[in-house]
Amino acid sequence: MDDRMVTTGFREGEDDQEQNLRPKTLREYIGQESVKQNLQISIEAALKRRESLDHILLYGPPGLGKTTLAGIIASEMGQSIRITSGPAIERPGDLASILTNLADGDVLFIDEIHRLSRAVEEVLYPAMEDYALDIMIGKGPTARSIRLDLPHFTLVGATTRAGLLSAPLRDRFGIIFRLEMYSPSELAQIVSRSAGILNVEARQDGILEIARRSRGTPRLANRMLRRVRDYAQIRADGIITKEVADLGLLNLEVDPLGLDKLDRTMILTMIDKFDGGPVGLDTLSAMTGEDASTIEDVYEPYLMQLGFMMRTPRGRVVMPAAYAHFGRTPKATIQEDQEQIKW
Ligand code: ADE
Repeated sequence: MDDRMVTTGFREGEDDQEQNLRPKTLREYIGQESVKQNLQISIEAALKRRESLDHILLYGPPGLGKTTLAGIIASEMGQSIRITSGPAIERPGDLASILTNLADGDVLFIDEIHRLSRAVEEVLYPAMEDYALDIMIGKGPTARSIRLDLPHFTLVGATTRAGLLSAPLRDRFGIIFRLEMYSPSELAQIVSRSAGILNVEARQDGILEIARRSRGTPRLANRMLRRVRDYAQIRADGIITKEVADLGLLNLEVDPLGLDKLDRTMILTMIDKFDGGPVGLDTLSAMTGEDASTIEDVYEPYLMQLGFMMRTPRGRVVMPAAYAHFGRTPKATIQEDQEQIKW
């Protein structure tokens, strides 16, 4: 398991802790206003027609609440949820067994749905389209297929990037939502709600400090809140103020913008060793020792949102805002200065 502070994947034991903080209804869910509005309408309409809800694809960076939303969809529909993930469904038989054990109206949540194998996807197509399972009986020329009826379930699929999904699978979702990063004020509301549930006293400026550093991601905001709560208890009087949040997060090497060591290594190496780029993704991966897909899905979205880097066809390029943040001077400016001096 990953041990870094800003990783947006789950860490050991964290899934249970996060469970308590998860909102159970749309009303409690903070942010993602357009997704919430559209979901509310689709859910009400399906309930009115007494039909199952259309299949829903949720995509966006990790930690933004895709699993939480799937749980809310099930509870708002008054149904149960079965949670699994692409890598966990290894063979077509695994999926067949999950599907045949669902009840009418149940929500099946498949996280990292882009990681399903082609053979498993083939089982999913008729299941999504016709609520049917095609089973091959026998082998060779006498083989035939029989069709089993399945319950009318709703598939909620989650992926970090919609582009990773095969087109036939993507086309079978009736509803597609993109989750956006949260604003500091939305994150502050989330931290405030979580502090209430965790029974920890937190001042508004302390809450805002955590919100500002959590990279638009509720999972990180809640993780930082728990770590700052520990710090407050041991090194202060248990109350989360701005000073306590500052010191607690400094201890975790998270800077005022929420950047961690890996962000800093990545940007500074690009500046110092590659004149700001372009640098290929594989080079970045080798430089930092981090998976290319983690760099793409977890690190780059936030750095791009800050305007610190850009993806170009030739590679990644550092932007002026990053030079300013780290107190470095872009190469072009140095050249211009020198030219001015020559003149
Ligand atoms: N906890 C995690 N994500 C949340 C959200 N979007 N709203 C409320 N609480 C949350």
